[in-house]
Amino acid sequence: MSFSAQLAADALAIQARLDAAMAGFGDTPVVQAMRYAANGGKRLRGFLVLESARMLGVGPAHAISAAAAVEALHAYSLVHDDMPCMDDDALRRGLPTVHVKWDEATAVLAGDALQTLAFELLTDPTLGSGDRRIALVAGLAQASGAQGMVLGQALDIAAETAPRPLTLEEITALQAGKTGALIRFSAEAGAILAGADPAPLRRYATALGLAFQIWDDVLDVTGDAALTGKAVGKDAAAGKATFVSLLGLDAAKTRARSLIDEAEAALSVYGPAAGNLIDCARFVIAREN
Ligand code: IPE
Ligand code: IPE
Ligand code: MG
Ligand code: MG
Ligand code: MG
Repeated sequence: MSFSAQLAADALAIQARLDAAMAGFGDTPVVQAMRYAANGGKRLRGFLVLESARMLGVGPAHAISAAAAVEALHAYSLVHDDMPCMDDDALRRGLPTVHVKWDEATAVLAGDALQTLAFELLTDPTLGSGDRRIALVAGLAQASGAQGMVLGQALDIAAETAPRPLTLEEITALQAGKTGALIRFSAEAGAILAGADPAPLRRYATALGLAFQIWDDVLDVTGDAALTGKAVGKDAAAGKATFVSLLGLDAAKTRARSLIDEAEAALSVYGPAAGNLIDCARFVIAREN
C-alpha cells in the first residue's frame, strides 16, 4: 500500500481505537472536549508507531493501542499549547480550540485526562508482555515529561521574552524537546513492540522530528490557514525562537531537506521494507498542513 493510502487507513484505525477507549466515559463536558480534541489531525505519530512495527513484523492488532496512545498524548499537548497562557490560539484542525468552545478549566482537564488515557492505553495486553508494556510506558513518560516535551514547551515559552535571540544549538534543543521527543518515541515504539534494536529508528525519527518542526515553522510563515487549520503568521509576532526566525526561510528549508536525507539514510539497514517510512519523511517537508 502506498504511503498516503496507508496513512489514511491507519488514521481510521487510530480514530476507532480512540473512540473505543472513550466509549464508556459518559458525556460530561470534559469527555465531550476529550473526544473533540482527539478527533482529526494527520495522525503522523500514530502512523510512525504502526509503520515501524509493521516493518519489523508486528501487525496493527498488536500496535494500535500504542498508536492511539501517542495520538492521545499529542492531542493533550495541543489543547494545552493553544491555551491563552501558552500560544493563545483560537483555531485548531479547522475548528475552535477547546478553551474557546468550552472554557479554560475544561481545556486543562480534558488535556489532563487525554494524557492519562495515553498511559492507560499502553497497558493494553494486546501490546505484548508486561515488560514490553512497561518499556512503552517509560518511553512515553520520558519523551513527554520534564526532560522531553514539557521541557521543550517551557523553553519555547521562555524564549518569547529572552533578553537575546537563541542560538542554533539552543533552538535545536528546544525543538528536540517540544516536538522531537514524541516523534522519536513513536518510531521507537515499533522497535519496542518487536523486541528489535531501536537505534536505526531512533536516528531516523530524531532527524525527522526536527525537520517536522522546521516545516511547521515554515508553514507559519508561508502557509494558508484554510489548509493548515490553524492561525498562521503568529510565531514572529509572539517572538518565537524558530529556525526560520534565526536562519530565514531559505536556509531553514535547506536544513529541513538535509535532515530528511539523514532520516532516509538511517533506514538503509531495513532495505525496501522501509519504503513507507521514507515516503513519510518526504511528506513531512512537502506538506501544506
Ligand atoms: C502540530 O502537530 C504541533 C506540532 C508539534 C508542530 P501536527 O502537525 O502533527 O498536528 P496534527 O495532529 O496533524 O493536527
Ligand atoms: C507545539 O508547537 C508543540 C506541542 C504541542 C508540544 P507549536 O506551538 O509550534 O504547534 P502549533 O503551530 O501551535 O501547532
Ligand atoms: Mg507552542
Ligand atoms: Mg502553538
Ligand atoms: Mg507552530
